[in-house]
Amino acid sequence: MAILPIIEAPDPRLRVVSAPVAGVDDDLRRLMDDMLETMYDAPGIGLAAIQVGVPKRVLVIDLQRRDEPAEEGAEPVEVREPHYFINPEIVWASDELASYNEGCLSVPELFGDVQRPARIRARWLDYDGSAREEAFDGLMATCLQHEMDHLEGVLFFDHLSKLKRDMIVKKLTKAKRQKLAA
Ligand code: NI
Repeated sequence: MAILPIIEAPDPRLRVVSAPVAGVDDDLRRLMDDMLETMYDAPGIGLAAIQVGVPKRVLVIDLQRRDEPAEEGAEPVEVREPHYFINPEIVWASDELASYNEGCLSVPELFGDVQRPARIRARWLDYDGSAREEAFDGLMATCLQHEMDHLEGVLFFDHLSKLKRDMIVKKLTKAKRQKLAA
């Protein structure tokens, strides 16, 4: 496995619409393994392939739930539960919305409250290429919708008011200038 460089906004590649995957093979599984390692290293809870420069409809998610330790005062136990989504589609979304303060590994250190359907039902291909369908709510529903936006070239701040969006774009452009000058 390898840690891949993560593309950061305003890189135009993040605006590319990713292409459907024709078949799940070992090359694709290697990409998903690398994406997962990259995501854990960052650290983050979700990563779309385009964020490492690959315009394919593939994403990985692990909410990395932390369980209470058995002993008082000990470190919380991190539970790793990786999810792989190939060619994901939302087949149903609730009218009810949920708001979450979202961030993104491609938009470092910036956050914004985004409203999305609170519950969704999704269909996708799994790590082994088998078809899956499941309903999600809570952080999983939010995270899956955020990552699926990446497949359309959409970033979380596109959902914010123009004022907040302009503020984030300004900060990103400034950060990029500083990085180039450094
Ligand atoms: Ni993101």
